[in-house]
Amino acid sequence: MKDFKLDVAFIDRASEIAELRNYLENRPNSILFLYGPKSSGKTTLMYHLFDQIEQERGYEINFLNLRKIFLASYDDFIDAFFKSTEHDNGIKTGTRRQYSLFGLFKLDAFTERMLRKKQEDPFLVMEREFQRLQKKNIQPVVIIDEFHKLDGLYMPDKQKRLIIELMNFFVAMTKESHLCHVIIASSDAFFIEQVYVDSKLRKTSQFMKLDYLEKEDVFTWLSDIRKHNKVREYSLSKHDIEVIWDTVGGSAWEIYYILEQLFRHSLDDIAAKIKREKVAMIADWVDYEDIEERRALLSRFIEENPIDRRKLTGMRNLLGQAVKDNILYYDPVEGEYGIQGRSLEWGIKGYFDQM
Ligand SMILES: Nc1ncnc2c1ncn2[C@@H]1O[C@H](COP(=O)(O)OP(=O)(O)O)[C@@H](O)[C@H]1O
Ligand SMILES: [Mg+2]
Repeated sequence: MKDFKLDVAFIDRASEIAELRNYLENRPNSILFLYGPKSSGKTTLMYHLFDQIEQERGYEINFLNLRKIFLASYDDFIDAFFKSTEHDNGIKTGTRRQYSLFGLFKLDAFTERMLRKKQEDPFLVMEREFQRLQKKNIQPVVIIDEFHKLDGLYMPDKQKRLIIELMNFFVAMTKESHLCHVIIASSDAFFIEQVYVDSKLRKTSQFMKLDYLEKEDVFTWLSDIRKHNKVREYSLSKHDIEVIWDTVGGSAWEIYYILEQLFRHSLDDIAAKIKREKVAMIADWVDYEDIEERRALLSRFIEENPIDRRKLTGMRNLLGQAVKDNILYYDPVEGEYGIQGRSLEWGIKGYFDQM
C-alpha cells in the first residue's frame, strides 16, 4: 500500500456513534433522521457505524447511498432498491460490504420481473423480506443516504409522490409493526421538513443533528497530525491551529484541504484564498433575478447567525433555494436557519465589505 504524505483520520464522534447504537439496540419504533450541514460528516459517520455493526452478528444492514445513483424515474428507484440474485454471481464472492452496498433487497428473478412489470408492490416485497429476516432472528436495518434525491419521483399511477409513500411505509415498518430500523440522512433538512409536514409524519421520527467538529476536537486533532494523518513534513503551532479554526471552523473537509495545501503554501496564503473563493461563491449566488432579496437575506446573517425561522417570514421559496444551494442550512428541530460553515461566513462578510 502506498504511503501518502497526508492520510485521512476519523476524529471522535463517540457520542454520535453511541446515540446511533442506542437507536439500534431498542426495538424499532421510529425513523431516525440524521441531518446537518453539507460535509459535516454524515456519510462518514454512517459508514463507520456500518463497519462496526457488520462485524457483529444479528444485523442485516442495507446501506444505500443515493448520491451514486441516477434517479429520474420509478424504474430507477426499483433498480436502486432491488437486486435480482440472478445478477449477483460476480458480486457474491466479494465482501459483505460490497455486496450490501450494491442494492437493498435481493430478489428472485420472478419477483424482479413482476416488479418491473409493475405487477408487484415494492413495499410488500420489502415487508416480506423484513419478516423473513425477523423469523431468522436477524434485525434488518435500512440506511439511506442523500434521501432527498428521491424527490420528484412518482408512483406508476403518477398521482402519488414516491418519497411520501416510502416514508409512510417506513412509519408502518417502525412505529406500527416494529420490523426494521430506518436511518435516513440528508443535508437538505428544509426539504425533509416539507415531507414531514405534507404527510404528517413528524411525530413518528427522531431527529439527530450532526454538526461540524467541536473546537476541542479540532485542536486535539491538529496538535498531532503526525499521529492522526501521518504527516511528517510539518507540524502546526497553536497559533496555526487558531488560524485554521478561525477560517474554516470544524469542517473536516476544508481542514483536509488546508493540510494538503500546507505542503506547498503558507497558511496565510491558503486562508486568504479560501476567503476569496467564498466571496466569489456568494457573489455568484446573489447574482440572480431576485438579487435584492438575496442580498437582503444574507445581510441579516452578518449580525445574527443562526436566525429563528419566525423572524424570516414571507421568503420560504428563497430560503429553500439557499438551503438547496448549500448557502444556508435549516435545523428543523430548532427551527432556525444558519450559514453553512465558517468559511462561508467569511464569504458573506467579505462580499458586503466589498460593496
Ligand atoms: N469524524 C471525522 N474525522 C475526520 N474527517 C472527517 C470526519 N467526518 C467527516 N470527515 C471528512 O469530511 C469530509 C465530508 O464528510 P462526509 O461524510 O462526506 O459529509 P456529509 O455526508 O455530511 O456531507 C470527508 O472528506 C470526510 O473524510
Ligand atoms: Mg454525505
